[in-house]
Amino acid sequence: MESNTRRLVVVSNRLPAALALEDGRWQVRAGAGGLVSALAPVLRDRGGMWIGWSGTSDPEVDAAGLLADFSSEAGYDLYTVPLTADEVAGYYFGFSNEIIWPLFHDLQTRCRFDPDYWRMYLDVNFKFAEVVARKTTPDDYVWIHDYHLMHQALFLKSMGVKRRTGFFLHIPFPPPDIFMKLPWRWKLIQALTEFDLVGFQTLQDRRNFTGCLHRLMPEARVSGRGAVVSVDMGSRTLRVGAFPISIDFNQFADMARRREVADRAFGIKEALRHRKIILGVDRLDYTKGIPERIRSIKTLLRRYPDLKGQVNFVQIAVPSREEVDEYRELRTEIEQLVGRVNGEFSFPGWVPVHYHYRSFPPDELAAYYLAADTALVTPLRDGMNLVAKEYCACNVDEDGALILSEFAGAAAQLQKNAYLVNPYDLEGVAKALHRVFHWDKEERRRHMSRLRDQIRRNNIYWWVDSFLQAGIAKNLGDFPAADAMTY
Ligand code: G6P
Repeated sequence: MESNTRRLVVVSNRLPAALALEDGRWQVRAGAGGLVSALAPVLRDRGGMWIGWSGTSDPEVDAAGLLADFSSEAGYDLYTVPLTADEVAGYYFGFSNEIIWPLFHDLQTRCRFDPDYWRMYLDVNFKFAEVVARKTTPDDYVWIHDYHLMHQALFLKSMGVKRRTGFFLHIPFPPPDIFMKLPWRWKLIQALTEFDLVGFQTLQDRRNFTGCLHRLMPEARVSGRGAVVSVDMGSRTLRVGAFPISIDFNQFADMARRREVADRAFGIKEALRHRKIILGVDRLDYTKGIPERIRSIKTLLRRYPDLKGQVNFVQIAVPSREEVDEYRELRTEIEQLVGRVNGEFSFPGWVPVHYHYRSFPPDELAAYYLAADTALVTPLRDGMNLVAKEYCACNVDEDGALILSEFAGAAAQLQKNAYLVNPYDLEGVAKALHRVFHWDKEERRRHMSRLRDQIRRNNIYWWVDSFLQAGIAKNLGDFPAADAMTY
C-alpha cells in the first residue's frame, strides 16, 4: 500500500487544538509550538486522525464534545487521551520538561532526574498506546511525534498490536557523552529501536543517535548511505533518517501578500518611525537564548553608537510552560534585562527594546515578519526553528536578512545564505547585526531570494512525503536529503 493511500494517524502529546479556561468558560484554541504549526496543515490537506492530550486534566470538562466542532471543521478526526493532574505533573512537566527537554538541548545541569517522573512517563505512554491500539487498524500508518511518547512502539508490540510505526523527534538528539547521563538510557534507546523508522531533524542528530546505539547496543549494525540508513538489530531492522521539518511556505507567503497584513506592517513601521527593525520571535524558553540576545543588543549599542536611534529591537515572547519555576524565573530575568537596556539607552522619542509577552494571531505575526529588516534567531540549541523559515517565507519583498544561531537545526540547511552566529558570542552577534545593517539592497535580495527558494522547495509537504516514503519504500537506495543539508 502506498504512503499516500494509507490513512495517516498522527500521535503527539498536544493536539492542534487546546482547551483553555478564559473568563470562566472553556474555549478551544489553536495549539502553539513548532510541532503543531508544522503538522496542522498536513492533516488539513490529506485528512486522517490525530490522537493527543486535550491540554487539561479537569475531569469535569467534556474535551471530546468541545473538540468535535474543531474536528469537523478541520476535516480530520481528533481523539483525546484524558490525563489526570498527577499524570500531567509526572509525565509532562516532570519527565518531558524537566529531564528530556534540558538534557536533549545540552543543558543537563537543569535536569531533575526524579525516578517518579520516569514511572509516570511509562504509565502515560502505556495509556496512549492503548488508545492508539483501539482507534487504529493494521492498514494505518501510525506516526508518533516527539520526546513525550518514545515508548509507543514498544508498548504496542507488548500488547501484540501490529502497526507500521514511524517516530519523529522534533528536538535535537544529544551526543553520547550527554545522553549517557540519563539514568534510564538503555531502556529509552531500546524503546526507540522498536519503531520501524526513526527520524531526526539533522544528520548530526542522526549521527548522535547511532553513536549512542553503538555504545549501548553494540550488536546494532548501521549500513547504507544517503539521508536514511538501516540498522540491523539481529532479529529485526529499523531505518534511521534525517528529515529537516519545514513550513507551509505558500500559506505564509500568501498571508504576507494580503492587503490587511501589508497595511498592518506599514502601521508597525510607522509607529517605530521607520527605524530599522530587528525582530525576535520565540516561545519563552531557556533554550531560545533570549537573555543572551538582549545582551547582544546592549553590546551593539555600546560598540556601534552610530546605531543609537537608528534601530529598534522587537522581541515577541509567547508564554509557555508557565507552571514550571524555571520558566517563571526566566520571564523575570528577561523583563529586568529589557528594563536595564532601555534605562541605559533610551532618549526622548526612542526606546531601543520593545518587548511583548503574549501570543499573536498568525496574521499579526506575519505583519511583524514583513515589517522587520532583520530576524535575529539565536537559540542556544534548537531542533530546527521554524521562525527562521516563517520569516523568510513572509519576506515577499526579499529585502530582509536572517541572522541565525549555528546551534539551530535550520543552520544545517540555511548556512550559505543566513548570517550564522554563536549566540554566546555577544560581540559576534553585535558585529553581525552591524554588518547586515549596512548590507545594500542587492546583497539582501541575493541572500533572501536563495533562502526563500530553498524553503519553498523543501516545504512541509516535501517533509511529509520524504518521511512517509522512507517509512514504506522497499529499498532505500541513496535516499535523497534536503537541498544543501550539510550536517
Ligand atoms: C516544541 C516541542 C513540541 C511542543 C512545543 C510546545 O516545539 O518540540 O513537542 O509541543 O515545543 O511546548 P509545550 O510543552 O507547550 O507542548
